[in-house]
Amino acid sequence: MRIYEAENYEEMSRKAANILAAQVILKPDCVLGLATGSTPIGTYDELVARCDSGDLDFSEVKTVNLDEYRGLTRDNDQSYYYFMHEHLFDRVNIDPANTNVPDGTEPDADKECARYEALIDSMGGVDIQLLGLGHNGHIGFNEPDSSFAQTTHCVDLTESTIEANKRFFASADDVPRQAYTMGIGTIMKAKKILLIVNGEAKADIVAKAFFGPVTPEVPASILQLHPDVVIVADKAALSKVPEQA
Ligand code: F6R
Repeated sequence: MRIYEAENYEEMSRKAANILAAQVILKPDCVLGLATGSTPIGTYDELVARCDSGDLDFSEVKTVNLDEYRGLTRDNDQSYYYFMHEHLFDRVNIDPANTNVPDGTEPDADKECARYEALIDSMGGVDIQLLGLGHNGHIGFNEPDSSFAQTTHCVDLTESTIEANKRFFASADDVPRQAYTMGIGTIMKAKKILLIVNGEAKADIVAKAFFGPVTPEVPASILQLHPDVVIVADKAALSKVPEQA
């Protein structure tokens, strides 16, 4: 596990974009695993800027997103499909046919999750998976649990996640209660993982997840066992990392 410290959110975003850009330059038809949430917005802005300047070409890039709310249509501005188009896909020269987000409108959860897992395999797996970190240690929508979920599955969101995400909805009642998400096993199969995290509010969970025991109670802790993980974090998020680390 390699940790890059950034001064602030802007520097974190630039460093993360550098790593993703390097992947695209080295392998133009790579598979990028992508995340939503507030953390990656600056990273996506940086990628857009590199595309605008002609330094980055997304024409052959393929993408798979981590997760999607169950029940939200693609035109709902809180769907992750909508988010990805707004922040990245509609702003770079990617072929929309090469972008993939779980279909939240598919009512048959087993069918959709099996389709998505098979799709990732058929693409040859993920070259680099971008992750954010939930306050409770979740990655994707893999919430604290008694075991690690392996493949893409349907989850019930925890109260803490509903609470954290309600800022995007009219009220907590409007936050969907379920989501389709890549499993921990799906995420761990990615060849490389890039986790980005910022802000003092995440300092406790950063210390716990990456310097504490590996446990499904802190899903991100499993990343300690992945052979190729890069964490780009700002100073505030690293402020509670133990001295000897
Ligand atoms: C998003 C996702 C989530 C977020 C996490 C952090 O696709 O899967 O795990 O990465 O909730 O969210 P932010 O960045 O909003 O703090």
